[in-house]
Amino acid sequence: MTELDFIHPLKIFDLAKKEGRLVYTSAPMVRYSKLAFRQTVYEYGTDICWTPMILAKEFNRSHVARDSDFTISTTTPQPPTIVQFGANSPLELSRASSLVAPYASGVDINCGCPQSWACAETLGAALMEKRELVRDMVLATRSRLASDGWAVGLDADMHHPSKGRSVSVKIRVHKDLRKTMDFIETVLGDSGVPGGRNIDFLTIHARTRSTPSSTPILLDALEILVDKYGDRVPILANGDIFTLNALPFNSPLHTPTATFTNSRSGMVEESPLPFLPKLAGLMSARAILANPALYAGYDACPWEAVETFMVKAARAPLPYKLVLHHVHEMCSPGMGANKKALLTKQERAELQKCINMIDLIDFLEEKKGPKR
Ligand SMILES: Cc1cc2nc3c(=O)[nH]c(=O)nc-3n(C[C@H](O)[C@H](O)[C@H](O)COP(=O)(O)O)c2cc1C
Repeated sequence: MTELDFIHPLKIFDLAKKEGRLVYTSAPMVRYSKLAFRQTVYEYGTDICWTPMILAKEFNRSHVARDSDFTISTTTPQPPTIVQFGANSPLELSRASSLVAPYASGVDINCGCPQSWACAETLGAALMEKRELVRDMVLATRSRLASDGWAVGLDADMHHPSKGRSVSVKIRVHKDLRKTMDFIETVLGDSGVPGGRNIDFLTIHARTRSTPSSTPILLDALEILVDKYGDRVPILANGDIFTLNALPFNSPLHTPTATFTNSRSGMVEESPLPFLPKLAGLMSARAILANPALYAGYDACPWEAVETFMVKAARAPLPYKLVLHHVHEMCSPGMGANKKALLTKQERAELQKCINMIDLIDFLEEKKGPKR
């Protein structure tokens, strides 16, 4: 396979800022954020796409894991792709990163997965208690990529035409926010050089390890962390990014459209949402799964996004059950206020009866019909 040309993720942050907007990213999602899905969301304005979490140790040892966990396209435009690893060893992470570096824009460490099996292995959210280990994994990876010839000099390398690569971290927050600050301080490092830091950017999922995803994100925590660290490192906000017209916060890089009705006066007023002037971008998971066109401004999934996904899935195949799950998500009510769905509940039950791709294509053609 030949090496591919990539734009450095920090350059994408820089360009978005110059365009006066937030960076739009799609989250790592085990099983779902595979190539066909990444290509679909990229077509609808997503700037950077995450792969699902890949276990670094297995990736290093098994070619079956490498073949099934990481697929890229060499023929169509390759969405800027961040490979997310589950890792707890500097050596394993740096080896796995070295393997994917020719084919991805950057690598990321999952410090947020709350599942018990992951935490028992000191992976995911368990790493939020191991800040020195996370820093050591970041440093070992940067050093390995640099010795392989990649440009990992942060902002200084963002204009590098093809060799620039990023190393980043995705975190949750602690109940005691001082622990999250200690974590971020340790992982960022104190180089003393303006702009100097160990990671290129940081994603904050503003929930604790035990907050269910049905509970709204901890906006206070997000506001404090973005205010404190947003000048030192570009930050992506993750959690409850459901539609562009109703973000859970306001930003100078995003035209606020959210209003609320004052229950006493009955007047429509500007939203009282927190203002995050130092926020660099957004990351969406559940909402973009249901509506891949989210960043193109759609507040519900359009039929054309389902079609785009089907075409991508035919070219970059997925197991049929996964295709069916994606389509089901896209045809169900989304996460935002607009609960209009492409298929009724009864039609979605019929959808589940499709047993293969041909069946599914025929079903969708029939349901979409000329009337839609
Ligand atoms: C199906 C699914 C799979 C996920 N897999 C991962 C993963 O591999 N790595 C990770 O860091 N987070 C993973 N997450 C968490 C999301 O990336 C995100 O942090 C979380 O869902 C909050 O964002 P949301 O409110 O936009 O859904 C997953 C979430 C879902 C729904």
